[in-house]
Amino acid sequence: MKALILSGGKGTRLRPITHTSAKQLIPVANKPILFYAIEAIRDAGITDIGIIVGDTAAEVKAAVADGARFGVQVTYLYQEEPLGLAHAVLIAKEFLGDEPFVMYLGDNLVKGGISNLVEQFKQRSPNSQILLARVRDPGQFGVAELRDATVVRLEEKPAHPRSDLALVGVYMFDKNIHAAVRAIRPSKRGELEITDAIQWLIDSGLKVLPHIVTGWWKDTGRLEDMLEANRMMLDTYETDVQGDVDEHSRVEFKVVVEKGAVIRHSTIRGPAAIGSGARITNSYIGPFTSISAGTQVINSEIEHSIILENCLIEDVGIKIEDSLIGRNAEVKKLNEKPRVYRLLLGDNSKVGLP
Ligand code: G1P
Repeated sequence: MKALILSGGKGTRLRPITHTSAKQLIPVANKPILFYAIEAIRDAGITDIGIIVGDTAAEVKAAVADGARFGVQVTYLYQEEPLGLAHAVLIAKEFLGDEPFVMYLGDNLVKGGISNLVEQFKQRSPNSQILLARVRDPGQFGVAELRDATVVRLEEKPAHPRSDLALVGVYMFDKNIHAAVRAIRPSKRGELEITDAIQWLIDSGLKVLPHIVTGWWKDTGRLEDMLEANRMMLDTYETDVQGDVDEHSRVEFKVVVEKGAVIRHSTIRGPAAIGSGARITNSYIGPFTSISAGTQVINSEIEHSIILENCLIEDVGIKIEDSLIGRNAEVKKLNEKPRVYRLLLGDNSKVGLP
């Protein structure tokens, strides 16, 4: 079996971070989301992985390289325009050949991995196996209608969903999917939808088996989802303090402090992760917070947030909460008169003031 990971797309809902960075490389619990997908696939025994890349190809390649450090071989497949998930299968034909494969959307996180699902697919050997999860807002996803435990109809982002079963971004296919992606036409949003390709399989009398996911799953397309994913992943970590924590600091509950991180006169209340080379001074880092490598936090309080690499957060008088802060950003109090806000924000930035 092979695997196809999709790591293109524009990530419009996570701008401005995605103006300069691939959404699949945003760290959750200080590890890029994409790495969780690669590890889940590897743990299911699949080592031949094609990664679909787009505008952010260079960054994805720099992060993953040939896959050797994960114990897999990666082939990069370039998609010039984000023309849909089924279009990604279309351009991956040569790489996939006629082998069955797992398709994994690089911004999805499935707790507990996919080993059992791949095993189930091999044993039941249907033409496709899809994962479904009950959600509160099905209209934002592909939605499945089941009858007697078989899939009868799939619809992409329907205005009037027929069920609360959303398509999770992990799919398994045999070679029949190639005929399906050639047969379908672009949807209203101008994309070749994998949802329509699976409907084509059903209409052609092929076997599509559903598997309802009961564990945690997240499509990390929006800030709230990203923060929830971070929360969920941090919660699975155990305390591991490798960095330098002084006697005036407190590290409570599940906290990872990587080697090279320095904590001075501060409280870190987990679940939280502090990356290597980060410096936390005279500050409070609260639950569900990830501080990436090289970031400095001085005289400030942060909770329920993701702070990327090499930021400076200094003398911020009010707690920073529910925030995602991109690389090299600075948030600091100006000790000058008149008292003003001085902002240099990228396009689509959001600032919430008290
Ligand atoms: C895509 C699929 C959708 C699926 C979702 C899961 O949506 O088109 O059917 O439910 O991934 O993450 P998109 O992220 O392209 O909006």
